[in-house]
Amino acid sequence: MTHEIAVIPGDGIGQEVTPAAVDVLAAIDSVDFDFVEADAGDAVKAETGEALPQETRDIAADADATLFGAAGETAADVILPLREVVGSFANVRPARSYPGLDAVQPDTDIVFIRENTEGVYSGIESEITEGVTTLTRVITEDASAKIAEFGFDYARQNDFDDVTIAHKANVMRETDGLFLDAASAVGEDRGADYDTALMDALAMHLVMTPEEYDVIICPNLAGDVLSDLAAGLVGGLGLLPSANVGEENALFEPVHGSAPDIAGEGIANPSAMILSAAMLLDHLGYDEEGDRVRAAVESVLESGPKTPDLGGDAGTDEVAAAVVDAL
Ligand code: NAI
Ligand code: MG
Repeated sequence: MTHEIAVIPGDGIGQEVTPAAVDVLAAIDSVDFDFVEADAGDAVKAETGEALPQETRDIAADADATLFGAAGETAADVILPLREVVGSFANVRPARSYPGLDAVQPDTDIVFIRENTEGVYSGIESEITEGVTTLTRVITEDASAKIAEFGFDYARQNDFDDVTIAHKANVMRETDGLFLDAASAVGEDRGADYDTALMDALAMHLVMTPEEYDVIICPNLAGDVLSDLAAGLVGGLGLLPSANVGEENALFEPVHGSAPDIAGEGIANPSAMILSAAMLLDHLGYDEEGDRVRAAVESVLESGPKTPDLGGDAGTDEVAAAVVDAL
C-alpha cells in the first residue's frame, strides 16, 4: 500500500528541514510513500497574493497525512486553516531530553496535549475604536472534553502515569472554569489519576521540577507557550516535533517557525522535523518504523554530527545523512 503524503516546506528553514525528513521517510524500505509537494507561506503569497492556495488545501485534504515545515509572517494564515483542513483538534507536543545533549533539565519527558481549535486562537478579534481592541476567547464543553479524552487515552496508550490539567480558572472563571470541569469530568469517568494546575505556577514548576510531569492537557495558548518553555529545558526548538491529529487525517510539523535569523545558511537542526516524520509513521500504524527513526535521531544527537544550536558545526544535510545512515 502506498501512502500519499502532502509535503509543504513553506518558508525559511522549512525549505531546509523538510527535504531532510522526506529523505528519512524515503529511506524506510518497509513503507511506500508518494510525496506530493505543495506551496504555502510568505513566498507564495508574494507571488500569488495567497498564503495558502486552494490547490495546497486540496492536496492536504486528499493526502493520508501532511508534513509541514514552517511559514514566516503568514504563519497564522497558513497553519490555522491547514489544521482545519485536516480536521485536527489535538496538538501533540512531546518535549524530552536526550543523552549527550547539554540540556537545562536533562530529566524531562513531557507530552503536551494542546487543544487546537478554540481558546484565544478562535480568531475573533476586533478594534472597537482606535487604541482599543478586543479578543473573544471561545471555550466549549465539547472541545474541552474531546481534548481531555484524547489526553487520557494518550497517557494510557503510552504508559505515562501522571496527567495534569492546566488552566487558569481562578481568573477566567467562565471559560477555563468550563475547560477544567469538562476535562476533570473525563478524568473522573475513567477513574484516572490526575492533577490540576494553574498554568502560571505550572510554568515555574516545569522549569524547576519537570521530572514530576508526564502528560499535560492544556487550552490552546497555554499549550503553545508551555511547550516552547519545555523546548528551552531540553535543548531548544530544533528538537521539538508535533502532531496535529484529527479523526481521520493529521498534519505533522516541528514546533519551531521559519527561523529567519538562520534561514538560507544550511545549519538548521532537522531533528524536530525528522521526529515529526516519526510521529507520522506512528499515526499511519508503523510504530516500529517510528521507533527506528527516533532511535536513529537519538544516536546522532548523542554522538554527532550536531548543528550549531546544539554546540556543533555540522550542516542540516550532514545531520540528515547521518540519521539515514543510522537507520
Ligand atoms: P522560530 O521558531 O522561527 O525561531 C526561534 C529561535 O529558535 C530562533 O533563534 C531560531 O534560529 C531558533 N530555531 C528554531 N528552529 C530551529 C532549528 N530547527 N534549528 C536551529 N535553530 C532553530 O520562532 P520566531 O523567531 O518566533 O518566528 C520566526 C518566524 O516564524 C515568524 O515569522 C513566525 O511567524 C514564524 N512561525 C511560524 C510557525 C509555524 O509555521 N508553525 C511557528 C512559529 C513561528
Ligand atoms: Mg508556537
